[in-house]
Amino acid sequence: MADLFKDKAKVWDSGSIRVNGAKKIADAIREEFKLHKQMQILDFGVGTGLLGFDIASSVGQMYGADISAEMINKLQEKNTSQLSIITYTQDIIKEPLEQVFDGIISSMTLHHIEHLKDFFGTIYNNLVDGGFIAIADLQTEDGTFHSDNTGVFHFGFDKDTLIKIAQESGFKNVKFKNINTIQKPEKDFGIFLLTATK
Ligand SMILES: C[S@@+](CC[C@H](N)C(=O)[O-])C[C@H]1O[C@@H](n2cnc3c(N)ncnc32)[C@H](O)[C@@H]1O
Repeated sequence: MADLFKDKAKVWDSGSIRVNGAKKIADAIREEFKLHKQMQILDFGVGTGLLGFDIASSVGQMYGADISAEMINKLQEKNTSQLSIITYTQDIIKEPLEQVFDGIISSMTLHHIEHLKDFFGTIYNNLVDGGFIAIADLQTEDGTFHSDNTGVFHFGFDKDTLIKIAQESGFKNVKFKNINTIQKPEKDFGIFLLTATK
C-alpha cells in the first residue's frame, strides 16, 4: 500500500497548527486522566510523535503504531535515551498486537480509519481492564479541512454516533468534549476528545 504520508513526513513538525493542536490534546488528556511512571501507553497513528513525546514525559514507556514508515522514521530521529517511543510500523487492526496497554491515545488519525467498529474492537482488546482511551479528531466537517481527501474515510465525527460505537464496543464512562478550534482562513474546525475506560 502507498505511504500517503511519505512527503508530508518531511515537513510535519514545522506546521504550527499541528504542533499547537497536539499540545492542546495532551493537556486535555492530562485533565481527564492521572498519568504516572508505571503506565505503558500506546499512541495509535503516532506519526512523528507530536502527541506521543509530550505524553511520554509523564509515563513509564510510550509506544506508537503507524502504517507510515516515513512518519516513523521522523519519530525515530527524535528518540533519545531520556525520552523515547517504541514503534510498531503496522496496521494493528489488521495485524493485532498481543501486548496490552494501560492507555491508548490517538490524535487526528481516526478519520483515516475506514471501519470504526474494528478500530474500537482492536483498542478494547489491547487495553488492560480499567485502562483508558483518549481519541482526538475533527468534529463533523464539510470535507474542506484537507485540501486533498485521499485516505480520508470520514469528514469528522458526530458526537452521538461515536459515543454509541464506543459503548457498543464495551467501553464505559464514554465522554466527548470539545477541546480546540482550528482556525483556517475560510472556516473554523472543532476538535473533540473522546475518553472512556474498559
Ligand atoms: C493526520 S496524521 C496524525 C499524526 C499524529 N498523530 C499527529 O497528531 O501529528 C495521521 C497518521 O495516521 C496514520 N495512519 C493512517 N491509517 C492508519 C492505520 N490504519 N493504522 C495506524 N496508523 C494509521 C498515518 O500514517 C499518519 O501518520
